[in-house]
Amino acid sequence: MTRRPLTLLITAGPTREPIDPVRFLSNYSTGVLGHLLVAEARRRGHHIVFVTGPTGYPPPRGAKTIAVETALQMQAALEREFPAVDGVIMAAAVADFRPIRALPQKIKRSGVAGGLKLWRLDLVENPDLVAGLAARRTRQVIVGFALETTRALANARAKLRNKQLDAIVLTQMNGRRAPFGETTVDGAIVQRGGAARPFRRLAKPALARRILDTVEKLAAQRAAK
Ligand code: CTP
Repeated sequence: MTRRPLTLLITAGPTREPIDPVRFLSNYSTGVLGHLLVAEARRRGHHIVFVTGPTGYPPPRGAKTIAVETALQMQAALEREFPAVDGVIMAAAVADFRPIRALPQKIKRSGVAGGLKLWRLDLVENPDLVAGLAARRTRQVIVGFALETTRALANARAKLRNKQLDAIVLTQMNGRRAPFGETTVDGAIVQRGGAARPFRRLAKPALARRILDTVEKLAAQRAAK
C-alpha cells in the first residue's frame, strides 16, 4: 500500500500543576507510548509535531518537539499547531485539576508538634484539551485515550461520543496497576459507529502500530470524501 505522508500531532506524558515553587500535582504517566507512537509514525514517513509533558526521555529524533509543563501550556501549544495537522493522537495524561493559584513562596510546615494537621488545597478543573480541538476540527482525525477502572467499554464509548473523537483507545487497569510504564496493556480500540477491537496483553510497540493503522485508515477515508 502506498502511504500518504500525514502531519500528526502526538502528545505524551503527564502535566504538572504547580502548588508552590517546589511542589506540583501530577500522575504516573511515563510518556513511553507517546514516544513509541512517534517512532512508528516516523518509520511510516509521517511528519510529527510532538507536544510532551515532563518525562525521563530526551526529545525524539526527527520530530518537532514542544516541551510543556502544565495543562494550560499544553493547550496553548496544541491550539497553535492544530490548524496545520491532519491528525491528533492524544496520548498525554492531562491533569484534570490544578491548584486555583500557585503560591509564590514555599508552603511552610505549621511547626506545631503532634496531632493531626489538615491542610486544604483548592483545585479548579482544567479544560478538556482534546474535546476543545475536536470542536473546531476541519479535516483532522482525532484519536483520544480512555483510562478506565470500572465499566471500561461503556465509559470509553461515552468519552468517544462526548469528546466528539473519531476513535478512542481504551486502556484498562492491569489488576490493580495502571498501564503507565507497563510493557503490555489490555483494552480496545473503538471507532465512532464501529465495533470495539479488543486486545489483551498487547506489547506497547504493537499497540502503537494498531493506533497508526487506525489513524491512516480514517485519514484516507476522510480524504476520499
Ligand atoms: N484529556 C484532555 N484534557 C483533559 C483531560 C483529558 O485532552 N483535561 C484527554 C486525554 O489526553 C485522553 C482523553 O482526554 O486522550 C481521556 O482522558 P481520561 O483521563 O481517560 O478522561 P477524562 O476526560 O479526564 O475523564 P475522567 O478522568 O473523568 O475519566
